[in-house]
Amino acid sequence: MARKFLVGGNFKLNGSKESIKEIVERLNTASLDPNTEVVIAPPATYLDYTVSLVKTPQVEVSAQNAYLKGSGAYTGEISVEQIKDVKATWVLLGHSERRTLFGETDEFVAEKVKFALDSGLKVMLAIGETLEQRQAGITDAVNERQLTAVLNLVQDWSNIVVAYEPVWAIGTGLAATPEDAQETHANIRKFLASKLGQEAADATRILYGGSANGKNAPTFKDKADVDGFLVGGASLKPEFVDIINSRQ
Ligand code: G3P
Repeated sequence: MARKFLVGGNFKLNGSKESIKEIVERLNTASLDPNTEVVIAPPATYLDYTVSLVKTPQVEVSAQNAYLKGSGAYTGEISVEQIKDVKATWVLLGHSERRTLFGETDEFVAEKVKFALDSGLKVMLAIGETLEQRQAGITDAVNERQLTAVLNLVQDWSNIVVAYEPVWAIGTGLAATPEDAQETHANIRKFLASKLGQEAADATRILYGGSANGKNAPTFKDKADVDGFLVGGASLKPEFVDIINSRQ
């Protein structure tokens, strides 16, 4: 099964109009691997601005979060309708920072995934275990628990990309080894196959996130179940282009 390599850039709560212009102009002018799909996720404040700057169809824009309603009395929330209205096409949901810092439960994330898909957005669904959970040997159980909440509501995964982000690797500079990532990705795919069937599981892209950078990205090249990266800090830097081109 040929799955298109995808590299996501999660800017998190970083950036300014000036810095985002610099990042997007770099992507507009760089020689990007045409076989790589690129999705950049600026802060919500800059979604419309970022879309206005993107000049290459290879690059799409994502929100970093969205609510489970499209409009109404939900002060401070982000609307999937408004994300679409500004021509962004993706939304990242379930990021560990939403789960740990803002108390988003598996069920809440799953409801948001369903609503975003039903509203016509593509979803990057972040899952992953904490260091304590890894040390307790329950990495797969945690991933499967988080996936099950979405499987309970969503049967068509054709517009979901899974981003496996071990929490202990996020922002630490300590990426998972390609071998460890491959093992966990393979177990995720096996679990999805048990629930959705092999064809759907084989078609679902599984990204690795957690201290991915221009130096380590190529070391994941031969890992069959690593279909791309979800990049944080390095997406703000010129090496983001190297990660995009890391399969060349
Ligand atoms: O969503 C991607 C992010 O959590 C990874 O962050 O800085 O470790 O690449 P970073």
